[in-house]
Amino acid sequence: MDLLEYQGKLLFARHDVPVPEGKAATSVEEAVEAAEAIGYPCVVKAQVQIGGRGKAGGIKVAQNAEEAEAHAKAILGMDIRGLTVHEVWIEEASDIADEYYASIVFDRSAKAPLVMLSTKGGMDIEEVAEADPDAIARLHVDPLLGFQDFQGRRLAFEAGVDADVVRPVGALLKQLYGAFIDEEAMLVEVNPLIVTGDRQVRALDAKVTLDDSSLFRHAENAELRNPSAEDPQERMAKRRSSRPSRSSCPTRRSRPCSSTSSAGSRAATRSRAG
Ligand SMILES: Nc1ncnc2c1ncn2[C@@H]1O[C@H](COP(=O)(O)OP(=O)(O)O)[C@@H](O)[C@H]1O
Ligand SMILES: [Mg+2]
Repeated sequence: MDLLEYQGKLLFARHDVPVPEGKAATSVEEAVEAAEAIGYPCVVKAQVQIGGRGKAGGIKVAQNAEEAEAHAKAILGMDIRGLTVHEVWIEEASDIADEYYASIVFDRSAKAPLVMLSTKGGMDIEEVAEADPDAIARLHVDPLLGFQDFQGRRLAFEAGVDADVVRPVGALLKQLYGAFIDEEAMLVEVNPLIVTGDRQVRALDAKVTLDDSSLFRHAENAELRNPSAEDPQERMAKRRSSRPSRSSCPTRRSRPCSSTSSAGSRAATRSRAG
């Protein structure tokens, strides 16, 4: 089961992964109410399970209630590559200094979770993997030992994050790993993971895929609903738009994705751009 961005962020927050404060809304009135509660500037974000919402006009900054209303009106009901927006997430605007990329998938061939980190965030990670594979730091975690603090720091260092945020980025990766394991996720992806002007590190976007067969152990997750995913026509549109256009894979360049893991290949084909 794929979660919407805000459902992923709420799941992250339960595991102390830092995320911006926000509220979900399904109507213009609710959106304005949420914006007033959060304060300005805030961001109105379309909640559909597809990447590139920013480029498609599904993410807009509001400086006041009038703008929040106008953006909510424009975004609710909008079509983003075949998916109708039924819900928006209103969150505080972040002052972005840097955009990084982080993800965790289960690598079946290595029988271990694979953590990836890159300073080339905010863009399509498949393109990064193709053009500059060394820009992605990778590390397998021994499932029995778990994620060690030094591994987070090593990944941050290898990826080339700014020296002053090596520790907080490492700490975020450890929390993300906790979320991945405890919630029995198949994929968690943060693109972008940001550093703010005042050097705070937080997850600005969230893509989470949960293992359907383990949902019975996670009542809170099993209750999550996504109106777009339940519309058969929209499901078909999503399948069409998520067909792989290239056969690249961020985890392994020399072998096809299917040899790494099904979660890995899904991550590669459906990875959110930007
Ligand atoms: N809360 C926010 N504050 C400031 N800018 C944001 C915020 N959320 C998103 N953005 C901007 O919009 C871009 C796209 O947002 P993101 O959540 O990654 O959606 P998508 O990947 O679907 O385009 C981000 O890279 C960032 O530049
Ligand atoms: Mg994104």
